[in-house]
Amino acid sequence: MFYGDFKNKDDLSFLNSCLERLKSIFGSVAYGDNNIIIGRNCSYLQDAKLLAAIKRHATNEQERSLIFRLNTLIWAFDHALRIDGDIVECGVWKGFLFSVLADYFDFGQVPKQMWLYDTYAGIPARYDTEKHDHPVLREENLYEKVVLRFRRYENVHVVRGMLPEILRERSPRRIALLHLDLNSSKAEIETLDALFDRLSPGGMIVFDDYGWSGYREQHDAEKRWAETRGYRILEMTTGQGVLLKR
Ligand SMILES: C[S@@+](CC[C@H](N)C(=O)[O-])C[C@H]1O[C@@H](n2cnc3c(N)ncnc32)[C@H](O)[C@@H]1O
Repeated sequence: MFYGDFKNKDDLSFLNSCLERLKSIFGSVAYGDNNIIIGRNCSYLQDAKLLAAIKRHATNEQERSLIFRLNTLIWAFDHALRIDGDIVECGVWKGFLFSVLADYFDFGQVPKQMWLYDTYAGIPARYDTEKHDHPVLREENLYEKVVLRFRRYENVHVVRGMLPEILRERSPRRIALLHLDLNSSKAEIETLDALFDRLSPGGMIVFDDYGWSGYREQHDAEKRWAETRGYRILEMTTGQGVLLKR
């Protein structure tokens, strides 16, 4: 799946013919989620456990194409299992990414808690700094559906509320992994301010949108935020950013 402005009716067939041509030139070409990757192992694309987890949770092509981002998250999650603190996602929507992660790591058996924060009703107006709110984020009974999705895990907390305010009511003391996916620079910066001191040394932040050109304001604000604390965020070709706390 590719995101783009496919306004001409032959745009998709043009893209597909380009991909076929690249395969004939380079042999090994992997693609999806706006990545075109030439001559790499991409061994995660053959990870049977990951493919099975995605198959159980994905409901469409867009979700299946998130395997490239899931590869980063699995690496970060695996690392976080050895670090003091809990797992936190800010910006959950339907819970796709973290349902795959919870399944992959059999999270019910993991001696940590997982905290899944969202309004479950879209981006609040006062935080919609870059106008990324969309009706699709306000699905009917979304909160109840996400609670149902994670019901088999006693150690997963699906928390409904506005970030960062809700953190004052319910939040973990220590964090090993923070996934930020709010599509709002204001909400992400304020959430970073609220949670960074709780991130353990060796803990990580994965920024979902850091490298995507459509989210440039988030990148710039987060880069500045990190620099004032003496950190550099790794911008990845998947569009994610990664920060490792010292
Ligand atoms: C891109 S979606 C998250 C996608 C999700 N990580 C996944 O696995 O598909 C962004 C989410 O952030 C939530 N959000 C944005 N600003 C928020 C805020 N200030 N407080 C709580 N939730 C917020 C929206 O409701 C939306 O569900």
